[in-house]
Amino acid sequence: MAEINRERWTGRAPFIFAAIGSAIGLGNVWRFPYLTYKFGGGAFLVTYIVGLFLLGIPWMMMEFGMGHHFQKGAPGVFSGIGKKWEWLGWWPSLVAFIIVTYYTVVIAWTLQYTLSSLTVAWGTGQAGAKAAGDFFFKSVLQLSDGPGVLGAPVWSILGLLAVVWVLLFLVMYRGARVIGKASIPLVIIPWVLIIALIIRGITLPGAAEGLNYYLAPTFKGLGNPEMWFAAFSQIAFSLSLGMAGMFAYGSFVARKSDLSNNAAITSFSDTATSFFAGFAVFSLVGFIMQAMNVPIDKVTASGLGLAFVTYPAGVSMMPGANALTGVLFFLCLFFLGFTSAYFLAYGGVITPLVDKFGWNKTKTTFWVCVACFVVGILYTTKGGLYWLDIIDRSMSFYGLLITGALACLVVGWGFGAKKLREHLNATSDIKVGAWFDWMIKVVVPAILLFVVIYGGFMKDLAKPYEGYPMWAASMIWVVLVGTLVIAFILQSAKAKAQKGGETK
Ligand code: PHE
Repeated sequence: MAEINRERWTGRAPFIFAAIGSAIGLGNVWRFPYLTYKFGGGAFLVTYIVGLFLLGIPWMMMEFGMGHHFQKGAPGVFSGIGKKWEWLGWWPSLVAFIIVTYYTVVIAWTLQYTLSSLTVAWGTGQAGAKAAGDFFFKSVLQLSDGPGVLGAPVWSILGLLAVVWVLLFLVMYRGARVIGKASIPLVIIPWVLIIALIIRGITLPGAAEGLNYYLAPTFKGLGNPEMWFAAFSQIAFSLSLGMAGMFAYGSFVARKSDLSNNAAITSFSDTATSFFAGFAVFSLVGFIMQAMNVPIDKVTASGLGLAFVTYPAGVSMMPGANALTGVLFFLCLFFLGFTSAYFLAYGGVITPLVDKFGWNKTKTTFWVCVACFVVGILYTTKGGLYWLDIIDRSMSFYGLLITGALACLVVGWGFGAKKLREHLNATSDIKVGAWFDWMIKVVVPAILLFVVIYGGFMKDLAKPYEGYPMWAASMIWVVLVGTLVIAFILQSAKAKAQKGGETK
């Protein structure tokens, strides 16, 4: 293993915080709390914790461990297993590339909303609450009638997207050293903000009722496959696995450091963040129910609708600190998203390119930022939201799960799960037993394929995704296959003369 020239984290904390930063993101706020509520609180939490042990932690250990063993990002890892497998590193890397192009657009919206919150631009009181939806779709996004009508970019969003990419460039261009150091405050800030938002939330009238819905101690439904599938796919997404980046993050870890324990710490910190974010969200849901006298199912509690419509509606009606709460909430989302975005771009895209082609890191970072920004323009157009939704299904659902399942199979059977385990045990505080081999060889891939088939194919092949026109919904498959084809092209591309950090 060549050690000398590989870039390094500057210590254990920078690595852990960078990994936590990649894991915590928008999904912790807008999906986990809602799923917990939907599946009856207690039952979902149990399922989620089981899933962490069965799926999340072993899978993260695999990605960290393989990156560390080969001292490479994902494509380098798979070509290390066998030249014919290199595409299996490029595929998730392309998935990461595509995801970050729209993920950053959502981050741009959070900046827009931070500004709009200063004046509560959608209005205060009940009238403001009712106007929140129109404000988002009509004023901010200027949404068109369908995916066939793109229109011009919304200039304010485009401008903010540029700002986001400039900030990302500044964090990334000097590599892991700066990313690690920057991640510590960038993770702690949103944690502090979540605490502030919880305090604001639980002091609102009606909050307790919302929290009763969030954490109802019901355990019915443990036999419901729908719930297991929801928990598993949330774990995969939330831990940012199957995106190539964790291989790179593991590769920056010094030889004498820890992998397994850090995977566990990352997973639990992510889960705790989700759990606490739920208090901020559901206290507000309870407040809205009381203030508008509506039942809970009339209050959207997940996805974009939660972040950009429901929360602002709650802000409108708050008895005080409206603007401040809005600003804190959207800044929180901004930080949560930002640390995931540089993980995708740097770990998922830039590191693999620099590894293979030996390009200059700063220049590669610059051009990747430019390319991502240019592709991102699509999502700033008036039809952008539709495309964001469709491409997200393709990449952050199918892309992540399918590449993850294949990666575990090839590592488990091709490279050898035992060899991976020995590597992990040689580096880590916690030692794992032979059970780990079967997790990687069988359990994790089986779970992922179950989710793909049960939660994906059975729905999307029966009817077009989300009722989009057929031609638009089929882009799910076009993009998925397209990224696979490009992965093979990158595999066959000639690597430049090998430079530092190579094993040759
Ligand atoms: N883990 C992030 C979240 O929960 C989302 C994400 C997924 C980020 C994939 C990067 C890659 O929001």
